[in-house]
Formats: sequence, structure tokens, C-alpha cells
Amino acid sequence: MAIERTLSILKPDALEKGIIGKILSRFETSGLKPIAVRMQHLSKQEAEGFYAVHKERPFFKDLVSFMTSGPVVVMCLEGEGAVARNRELMGATDPKKADKGTIRADFAKSIDANTVHGSDSADNAKIEVAYFFRSTELVSYDWKK
Ligand code: CMP
Repeated sequence: MAIERTLSILKPDALEKGIIGKILSRFETSGLKPIAVRMQHLSKQEAEGFYAVHKERPFFKDLVSFMTSGPVVVMCLEGEGAVARNRELMGATDPKKADKGTIRADFAKSIDANTVHGSDSADNAKIEVAYFFRSTELVSYDWKK
């Protein structure tokens, strides 16, 4: 499988619960290497720009409001089939429908406060990573574990 990069966001509910480390550990254990990590409190404009594809959806206003309600952690993860692997680890968007043992099933309380975001395709991953990180901020390194 090809080495890919994907964007992950740990949402305000993840930070409020103090589970940054638990989620990062799941990524690392599953072969997803963080190659850029930043804590950020998104402005309304930044959240609207990131989720622009959803701007006509009825949930857009609530989504932007939630994503700006507290700080988030944005990160780029690298690994084999990173886009699909991250989505497997996250589980379904609606935590009520997420498989047992996934991040959303274990930690999320609603479809808005669903703990994590992950790119849904390799093409979108490129766009989303570039939305938050300059190429010089993506730091490659080898794992010797
Ligand atoms: P995320 O993966 O960040 O992408 C868009 C977000 O919109 C999604 O997670 C949910 O938190 C939120 N959302 C709220 N309602 C819906 C819905 N009905 N369908 C999809 N996403 C929704």
C-alpha cells in the first residue's frame, strides 16, 4: 500500500476531555506517524473556510460554532494507506453508528462533538493538509521501534 498523508483534527471536545494523548497513541500504535502537529483556536473565518464544502448544509452554522468553541489540535499523519486507516480508527461520523473500539464510539457524544476529523480521500487530504500547513512544516523522520 502507498505511503499517504492525511489531515486529522482533534476537536474541542477532545481537548476538553483531556484525551489528546490517548488519541495520538492510537494513531502511533496503528502506524500513523504525526509529521506536523499544532494547537490552534480556529477563527470563524478559518472554520468556515475549512468546511466550505458543507456551507449549504443545514448543520454548517452549528459545525462552525462548535469548531470555534475551543482550541483544536491540527495534525498531518503519514503512513501506509493513511487516509483509510485514519477513517477506520475514527469510526462513523455519527458516534451512535460508529463501530465498537473506534475513537468516536469510545469518546464522542454527538455528531457535532464527534472528537476527530479526518480527510475523506487522498485528493481532499492534500487540500486539507495545505490549508493548515506549509510544506516546510511537514517533518519527515524514520521510526525505529
Ligand atoms: P467532520 O468529519 O469534521 O466533517 C464535517 C462535520 O460536520 C462532521 O464531522 C460532523 O461533526 C458535522 N455534522 C453535523 N451534522 C452532520 C450530518 N448530518 N452529516 C455529516 N456531518 C455532520
